[in-house]
Amino acid sequence: MKKEVISKLDIYKIKKPEELLQYYQDWTDNNKYNKDMVDWNYTAPQETVSVLRKYALNKNSKILDAGCGTGLVGIELKKYGYSNIEGVDFSQSMLDLVPQNIYKKIEKIDLNKPLKLKNNIYDVVMCVGTFTYGHVKPHALDEIIRLTKNKGLICFTINEGIYEEYGFDKKIKELTNNKLWNVKEFFKSNYITTKDVEAWLCLAEIIK
Ligand SMILES: C[S@@+](CC[C@H](N)C(=O)[O-])C[C@H]1O[C@@H](n2cnc3c(N)ncnc32)[C@H](O)[C@@H]1O
Repeated sequence: MKKEVISKLDIYKIKKPEELLQYYQDWTDNNKYNKDMVDWNYTAPQETVSVLRKYALNKNSKILDAGCGTGLVGIELKKYGYSNIEGVDFSQSMLDLVPQNIYKKIEKIDLNKPLKLKNNIYDVVMCVGTFTYGHVKPHALDEIIRLTKNKGLICFTINEGIYEEYGFDKKIKELTNNKLWNVKEFFKSNYITTKDVEAWLCLAEIIK
């Protein structure tokens, strides 16, 4: 029987960006988002950074945390000595919870739209927890690739519930067939453990 992922969390039912922003505004009250991530054993920041560390050996790598939220991925990267990190997200209330000294720069950006950032500027782009219900769509991978340098890395999760429904399966095949990247790692990760929601975890090397 197919797993009913959409019913696991209320946020998964939201479709409109303005409702999503409101949801995050409420979720950040009293630091509730960060507390829930601990209570739910949200393992994606640890899982993705652990995979990245196998490939990104240079601790000065210029890294973009796309959909950085409250900075959980940045905090994990910092723990392992990466310090040249920037963060972008479209929710100001999530960005307001980012601790000081994690990111060199933070910007409010909608990843579903064309980005006002230059080509080939990042060694690594992380996008964790952001390819999920009602959030960022597969076409955003084209922009993420545009920002990434030749031989740069992108590391991201895709919620198992939307992988086929939103066409991430097709997008990944297309990028591979068009020789725009080499997928180095692709596996089901634990993601939100106590809610029994898993995610595909992908790390790919960009070819330009
Ligand atoms: C589940 S949170 C994950 C945040 C962080 N990466 C983490 O692992 O804790 C998803 C994030 O995606 C952001 N997001 C949703 N839609 C977005 C969009 N269109 N552009 C940029 N960020 C978006 C939300 O504001 C939220 O911070």
